[in-house]
Amino acid sequence: MQSYDVMIIGSGAAGLSVALALPRHFNVALISKSQITEGATFYAQGGISAVMDPADTNAAHIADTLDAGSGLCHPDVVEHIVRNGRDRIEWLLEQGVPFSTRTSKSGHREFHLTQEGGHSHRRVVHAADATGAAVEDTLVSRVKGYANVTLMESHAAIDLIISLNQATKQKNCVGAYVFDEASGDVLTINARVVVLATGGVGKVYLYTSNPNVATGDGIAMAWRAGCRIANMEFVQFHPTCLYHHRAKTILLTEALRGEGAELLLPDGSRFMPSFHERAELAPRDVVARAIDHEMKRLGLNCVYLDISKKSKSFLLEHFPNAYQTCAEYGIDITAEPIPVVPAAHYLCGGVVTNIQGQTNLPHLYAVGEAACTGLHGANRMASNSLLECLVIASTAVESITTLLERVPAENVEIAPWDASRVIKGNEDVIISHSWDEIRRVMWDYVGIVRTNKRLERAQVRINILKTEINEFYSSFHISKNLIELRNLVLIAELIIRSAKLRKESRGLHYTLDYPNRDDTNFQSDTIL
Ligand code: FAD
Ligand code: SIN
Repeated sequence: MQSYDVMIIGSGAAGLSVALALPRHFNVALISKSQITEGATFYAQGGISAVMDPADTNAAHIADTLDAGSGLCHPDVVEHIVRNGRDRIEWLLEQGVPFSTRTSKSGHREFHLTQEGGHSHRRVVHAADATGAAVEDTLVSRVKGYANVTLMESHAAIDLIISLNQATKQKNCVGAYVFDEASGDVLTINARVVVLATGGVGKVYLYTSNPNVATGDGIAMAWRAGCRIANMEFVQFHPTCLYHHRAKTILLTEALRGEGAELLLPDGSRFMPSFHERAELAPRDVVARAIDHEMKRLGLNCVYLDISKKSKSFLLEHFPNAYQTCAEYGIDITAEPIPVVPAAHYLCGGVVTNIQGQTNLPHLYAVGEAACTGLHGANRMASNSLLECLVIASTAVESITTLLERVPAENVEIAPWDASRVIKGNEDVIISHSWDEIRRVMWDYVGIVRTNKRLERAQVRINILKTEINEFYSSFHISKNLIELRNLVLIAELIIRSAKLRKESRGLHYTLDYPNRDDTNFQSDTIL
């Protein structure tokens, strides 16, 4: 058994920020189920929201976040995260993140701030249109220089380990079983504190902007360990992903709309002004639903995003990634509109935590997209996610440090992984078929627009799949695919159960059976 002070599961913005901020005398394991850079963070485009412009205010950022969140944001959490934004951007600068800058009117260098949906002000700090790669690469190169951090790539956490503390009679999280993909072995890792930084759940839907690792593992592990999970019905669909028969879903950043891109129907007419006064810069739920509505009304496969009014030099400077990616699919964004569709993008819910990232299971923390702090409410505002990862990582580290210094290390006895009752599986087709089926059921029945009947249908099918997958899991040797599938079906179940509990439409949850918001009965989180 390996033992650490802290085990961080996940190496995106959340996990890396925790690893870098922990005092160097702690012995830390940083576990990542693929290559270390692989995760949503690397693909983030638009940037990180923070009040950096003297003409902007924390009050405005707070008001915009509350407005996007449709009455469910926790105001104290919003305030804490917004107020710490500038400090975290400065921390990233110290780490060496190369943010885009420009020369101000008075001749000094300042951040180039872009704008995105829901923001009343330009406040998105970015590195051209590949902010996530700049952040991830910088933080990874820093953490590689930390002798106290052991990096374990291609290691997938399977389940948390819980132990009863004899002195306090309290159940604590004391580690996790971890699958080593290279050897096929399951490691038993003991840690005094475990941090879930496992990101989101996009792969539960057929079409998603998320990378393959986004299978909700941390949320599933926390649920099985008895943690509270909230707001799973609030899955955000990004309005503009590239529509092309050869493309896996590729995101086209909202910053394009921030810089003037318009959404068009095939006849070249705009439609967003008739849906919201902020038109293309309305909150994301409004834009995604409007696109879905127009596609269904007119029987379209896609709508179009047009930025061709801007000069080529402007586009090459600000959107080199979008320009290059579209060119690879034969689309010249400087001259023609881009075909786009919405796709699953972000989970506002997750493992319930407080501002310190503490879950209801002692010694277990959750940070980043896997957590539900109360910042996003029913709909996340663009670029508030990376901000949340950074701020909560920092407060979580304060709490972890205090805990480790206050509570003495204890010897825990942990049963090793038991594989004595499983055999080698020879029906991998069951795994791949179940993957496809879950993702299609979720897309067809639990998507942007829901109904009671669709949710019922989805629940029946997901329940059958869950029984089959659990049987498979308890009979055959483990693999990464199987670990993820077991989590994915649980995530699907939690989303459906939460969606069924919310008998109103609010933020990202829209149902034809209850089309209006009901503040009398539902102005609260959905807690499972
Ligand atoms: P991630 O960065 O997703 O990292 C999760 C980590 O957990 C990975 O290392 C993964 O391998 C690991 N992991 C998962 N399961 C296991 C397991 N079982 N065992 C071991 N390791 C595991 N937000 C913004 O604020 N601004 C943006 O501009 C922006 N653009 C985006 C663009 C795209 C295409 C996408 C997909 C998202 C975007 N978002 C943006 C959202 C934001 O990127 C994510 O919410 C954020 O990066 C999540 O960070 P994280 O550290 O929580 O998770
Ligand atoms: C984007 O660049 O459009 C994504 C921003 C986000 O998800 O916050």
